Amino acid sequence: MLKHLGLRQHLALAAAITTALALPVLSASAQAIHFDATTHVFRIDTPGETYAFGVNAQSEIQTIYWGSPLAAADPLPTPAAYRSLSGMEESTNITPYEYRAWGGLNFTEPAVKINFPDGNRDLVLHYVSHKIDGDRLTITTKDISREVFVDLIYTVDPATGVIGRNSIITNKTKEKLTIEQAASATWNLPHGTDYQLSYLSGRWAAEWQLTQEQIKDGTTVLESRRGSTGQQNNPWFAITRANSSGPHPEFPTNEEVGQVWFGALAWSGSWRINVERNQVHDIHVTGGYNPFDFAYPLAPGQKLETPVFYAGYSSHGIGEASRIFHRFEISQILPQKPTPKLRPVIYNSWEATEMAVDYPGQAALAEKAARIGVERFIMDDGWFGQRKDDHAGLGDWYVNQKKFPNGLKPLIDKVHALNMDFGLWVEPEMVNPNSDLYRAHPDWVLNMTGRPRSEGRNQLMLNLARKDVRAYVFNFLDKILTDNDIAFLKWDYNRQWSEPGWPELGPDSDKQKTVYVEYIRNLYSILAELRTKHPKVEIQSCSSGGGRVDLGILGYTDEVWPSDNTDPFDRLSIQDGFTYAYTPQVMTAWVTDSPNWANDRSTSVAYRFLSSMQGGLGVGANLNKWTDADFATAKDLIAAYKTIRQTVQQGSLYRLINPRNGSDHSATESVSTDLHQAVLFTFLKSSTQRYPYPRVYLKGLDPAKQYKVTPMYGTLKKDTPETASGAYWMNHGLDPDLTGDFKAAAFKFEVR
Ligand code: DGJ
Repeated sequence: MLKHLGLRQHLALAAAITTALALPVLSASAQAIHFDATTHVFRIDTPGETYAFGVNAQSEIQTIYWGSPLAAADPLPTPAAYRSLSGMEESTNITPYEYRAWGGLNFTEPAVKINFPDGNRDLVLHYVSHKIDGDRLTITTKDISREVFVDLIYTVDPATGVIGRNSIITNKTKEKLTIEQAASATWNLPHGTDYQLSYLSGRWAAEWQLTQEQIKDGTTVLESRRGSTGQQNNPWFAITRANSSGPHPEFPTNEEVGQVWFGALAWSGSWRINVERNQVHDIHVTGGYNPFDFAYPLAPGQKLETPVFYAGYSSHGIGEASRIFHRFEISQILPQKPTPKLRPVIYNSWEATEMAVDYPGQAALAEKAARIGVERFIMDDGWFGQRKDDHAGLGDWYVNQKKFPNGLKPLIDKVHALNMDFGLWVEPEMVNPNSDLYRAHPDWVLNMTGRPRSEGRNQLMLNLARKDVRAYVFNFLDKILTDNDIAFLKWDYNRQWSEPGWPELGPDSDKQKTVYVEYIRNLYSILAELRTKHPKVEIQSCSSGGGRVDLGILGYTDEVWPSDNTDPFDRLSIQDGFTYAYTPQVMTAWVTDSPNWANDRSTSVAYRFLSSMQGGLGVGANLNKWTDADFATAKDLIAAYKTIRQTVQQGSLYRLINPRNGSDHSATESVSTDLHQAVLFTFLKSSTQRYPYPRVYLKGLDPAKQYKVTPMYGTLKKDTPETASGAYWMNHGLDPDLTGDFKAAAFKFEVR
């Protein structure tokens, strides 16, 4: 019926079924989403931004504005279709569509591409109707001739201004079609030339390296083709534009100055984000399922939903962009949102014992961990099946009788008696060929019939998309959690996909490639079901370090392991990069042995603690080797950490001096949400030629309040006052008394 209506009738009808309110007063509690039935313009207004798009005369949905808040009465007329440059460069190719289908005269990156059984591949989406439901807007679009509907979903978190976008593609034709490309959204930036892209890349033991570069014509592709998020690129981006005061000489945008558009995908499978600057220098950011090796058939009546692509805007630099995302993750994404529990101080056995775990060894470590104030004891890899090394045992989730003759209970009881709760390592999605599980079910792994099964870390991937595999994985985890008093699972995942076939579907199946979607859906559903059945259990996402950190997995896990690299100096830049996208609330950091295995660097216990105290603090050292002095320092610093952890984990983070590019200095500051407490961490790599440590200027304090400074470790220069106003600490600054190599100091500021 709707398809016979003209645009004006569609819009009038839509307006009639939509909440038509006056434009908002800019407060977080006001209605954020509005539709103007006269101009056909949608506005999303939050205290920090306005995002506007509208339906043009061709019934196409076109971005109008994204940036700092506009006044409610500001004119935002119906978007005019872009002017064509000439007959050789048609307007449809340069118009900033909200969600571009591959069809017509479109040559820039499409969000959706479909193959129909008759060979037709042309798809042109026009507005049909919309519905506003509180902070959620659904716009229905439809192909100009075929019964293919695409719903564009927008949600907004009014407090942070973060907008979530995704799409639902529905086949209402009478035949099966195949989706060949399905992005969640395209974000179009205001026309302009001086834009810089920031992104995070890396590898094992060197995750979270920040790259910042000028955006030039063409496309930058950030992606994973590995079946999971990956360490090589993280699905996060930020695009900065220098303000009139100009960019910092070494840093394209100031931490606290300039406009920033940023976003991240909530997806833990293969993904792609294209940052494209087109021939008229407009920037489009399109992200969603990776179209590489992708094909998703839809039978009549079926739908495909894309993951959510979240984005936000900051007019106060990339530092504020991070703080907005941190607040959003804590209040809207994490499983314990909006007030997740603080991370306990943990001990993890991996670096101390590797897989040589047994009752006496773990019990001895637990006793020592309890002495210094650890709250959670986690036994890592090695407790199950015939696990001696990484060649055997994965998949056989029964307790190894030689190592734990009486099961896990004696160790768990011991840990509880020491006043700690107990956590356990698992790697549920994997199997070693040398395991009972693989011998019984060689068909359960991802594989392509008749082809080699490439191993990574001597293991294969279980195909979680299979119903029987999903049931096996859920059931063994459920049993472990039911039979034992376990507070925490460290959920590891130590290889990427290869030969991602699904032979169970049969040789003629056209659904082979749906494994990329179905696997991750089952992963999420297992995590969700376990959490519902065992609500007290917390979960960490670990993937050879930081290989599976994204807004998708963070919906089901309470923390992540950012890197296997535990060298406290390397960690400074790893953690710095991490915080561009993710909150310190989820960033686990361990104090391990010195010299560190990663690079043989020796550092003091205090330096290692101060590096790790910037996230969720853990200890992973072999405590059997510690001296009494080490225990005393650890005990003091853990006690000090407990007084500031809420500020560190859930406060506002300011990256005062960044540790990148060979910097000898770095400093971070966290300020509590009520501005009553701040914590400053300062690090020195090496002092030279008697140059003093740079003066540190705090940020984010209440200028009028008096703050008393207390050293947690280290000292300030002698003439530093004990108490001064927030204005003093921010404007006059302070001088940490740091000289030497690999030195650190930390200070607490509290309102008197
Ligand atoms: C990789 C993890 O990142 C490590 O912390 C440890 O749990 C090992 N796997 C265990 O095999």
